[in-house]
Amino acid sequence: MVAKTRIAVLISGGGSNLQALIDACADPFFPAQIVCVISNNPDAGGLNRAANAGIQTMVINHRDYTSREAFDVAMQAALVKAEAQIVCLAGFMRLLTPAFVRVWEGKMLNIHPSLLPSFKGLDTHQQALDAGVKWHGCTVHLVVPEMDAGPIVVQAVVPVLPDDTVQTLGARVLEQEHLIYPQALKWLAQGSLEVDGQRVTLKTPVKEPYSQSNPSEYC
Ligand code: GRF
Repeated sequence: MVAKTRIAVLISGGGSNLQALIDACADPFFPAQIVCVISNNPDAGGLNRAANAGIQTMVINHRDYTSREAFDVAMQAALVKAEAQIVCLAGFMRLLTPAFVRVWEGKMLNIHPSLLPSFKGLDTHQQALDAGVKWHGCTVHLVVPEMDAGPIVVQAVVPVLPDDTVQTLGARVLEQEHLIYPQALKWLAQGSLEVDGQRVTLKTPVKEPYSQSNPSEYC
């Protein structure tokens, strides 16, 4: 059996997306395993979710560091120690330095609660309601130094209903986040993504030559 790709998840809060990734990784056929969860917030609820799943947790509190650079150096040291191969930002509320992002180029995913490139930054559901859009959603993208701007791996769309509030709309979007984040991680972990500038496509699977053990592929 092929070794699973080692994932570190960075969180700041409740960690419902982390939970979706934990649940996906519980499938023996999922190509990735979470080896460590790092939070910049010592009170993040997601730390309990990780501990309950038997995953190593770590708090690297940004308040203990005098600069973003020093914080990112500490994070990088933790990721190297954990032998992480892919980093998933899941509700991680700190801006990362370009130097850190470059180290993880093509290997770091983020989930954002809007249909990028619309509604970058915070309060995305309020932004969507204010703009009067009829469709809203969420995006998993590769992380680049510019915030919420990396190549888009997958998006999910939800309707905006006439009586929606930030809460009802946010809940509808979050449900989709929990579906698309594991999907995007699966593709990245198994090497299925082809990135060409801003465009991401799925590689066509290579067929094994015909043999008696795989005749069904040729039906
Ligand atoms: C999610 O909506 C995520 O897209 C955004 O912050 C929220 C975090 O939720 N970046 P959770 O901590 O995963 O529950």
